[in-house]
Amino acid sequence: MSETAKIILDGKEYELPVVVGSENEKAVDISKLRAQSGYITYDDGYGNTGSCKSDVTFIDGEKGILRYRGIDIAEVAEKSHFLETAYLIIWGKLPNEQEKEQFDELIRRHELLHENMKHHFQGFPPQAAPMAVLSAMINSMSCFHSHLYDIDEPEKFMEATAKLLAKVRTIAAFSYKHSIGEPIVYPARNLNYSENFLHMMFDAPNHPYELDPEVVRAMDLLFILHADHEQNCSTSTVRMVGSSEANLFTSVAAGVSALWGRLHGGANQAVLGMLQGIHDRGDSIDTVIAKVKDKDSKFRLMGFGHRVYKNFDPRAKIIKEACDKVLKKLGRKDPLLDIAKELEQAALKDSYFVERKLYPNVDFYSGIIMRAIGIPLNMFTVIFAIGRMPGWIANWKEVHESPQARIYRPRQIYTGPTQQSYDEARKKA
Ligand code: ACO
Repeated sequence: MSETAKIILDGKEYELPVVVGSENEKAVDISKLRAQSGYITYDDGYGNTGSCKSDVTFIDGEKGILRYRGIDIAEVAEKSHFLETAYLIIWGKLPNEQEKEQFDELIRRHELLHENMKHHFQGFPPQAAPMAVLSAMINSMSCFHSHLYDIDEPEKFMEATAKLLAKVRTIAAFSYKHSIGEPIVYPARNLNYSENFLHMMFDAPNHPYELDPEVVRAMDLLFILHADHEQNCSTSTVRMVGSSEANLFTSVAAGVSALWGRLHGGANQAVLGMLQGIHDRGDSIDTVIAKVKDKDSKFRLMGFGHRVYKNFDPRAKIIKEACDKVLKKLGRKDPLLDIAKELEQAALKDSYFVERKLYPNVDFYSGIIMRAIGIPLNMFTVIFAIGRMPGWIANWKEVHESPQARIYRPRQIYTGPTQQSYDEARKKA
């Protein structure tokens, strides 16, 4: 017999079904509770709420496990590359040789932007925040590809997916070139996904960019490590928007906006800002730790802590190693990396962090790699967005294809004034 939960409300007992996931995660299904009892559940910030069933990514935050479609992140990072990982995340299986070739070809076919879209960049001020440009440009894809509003055939979904994956990288690189006043660089046919991104970012007519395999690999790894992370803020946003049957482009553009915040994708930028500040002021590690512990300072160690990981972030481990490799290969010594390592060591030993289960997250080291590659600070979150694209698309697809699909519409506990007349309210004005 399947497990159930019992709840007593106003002296009356209700039996609730228990939903069990494939990794034995358990949840009490309260979807009928309000209809039966008049009660809703309250979970501010959704920290204990399963908002959906999903086949895409599994995380066990206590054990530090992250798997894409069942495959451990360390194995994906070691054996796959970004486009293949994207395919795995979106379609739930690794592509065979033919599928791989077809998908690569489709990405190449769609990597250019419509010429009119290119003109949009001129309308933004050069100092425009790249995440604002990215979100606006992805949303504007809805205007150029309106035949993909209603995606009911698999071919249409594949076309929309290829357009997004291919163009997000072009948009990012073009916006960077616009911001520094250099001519845009078009994608080159002979280059793979990550090579092409670096090429469009850094090649210039008077200064050809030479691709370094180690740097290309680090770039690809960054994309892979960010490719999905189950129901985080931006992915939940994409699902929420998609649940209203909004098209894929506009749903994903909303995800970009959600990612922008410094408690989410913006953290990688904040980490570097923090490390740079420590370096410039010459703060000792002890001073920094003391400041974090001082509640009045409101200072948080950026790149530390995670809503889900209460052991370690498996991505942080992989990225830390990659960081060392890239800096070694490029023959660079980065004082910020030294500060980061010292800070990590001090925090891991400190009871404040130990008690609160605060460990370095993926953002703690990703900024240092990006800095070594030459990516400017204000583009860090854009890199995260390019990487996260497969996860957003896969989650949108799940919502779109679900036979039980209904619009996402949480409830609330109203805490505002009780009924009053307009005249009463006027008197209080
Ligand atoms: N530095 C110092 N103290 C922290 C930190 C931190 N980075 N993170 C949490 N804490 C403390 C809080 O002050 C709180 O302490 P208290 O119990 O004494 O009040 C306790 O740990 C729990 O913190 P919450 O804010 O409840 O944890 P939550 O799960 O809501 O937050 C978050 C998770 C937002 C990631 C948080 O740890 C944080 O702000 N980290 C810094 C920003 C960051 O690195 N974000 C990237 C997340 S990963 C990603 O998006 C890819």
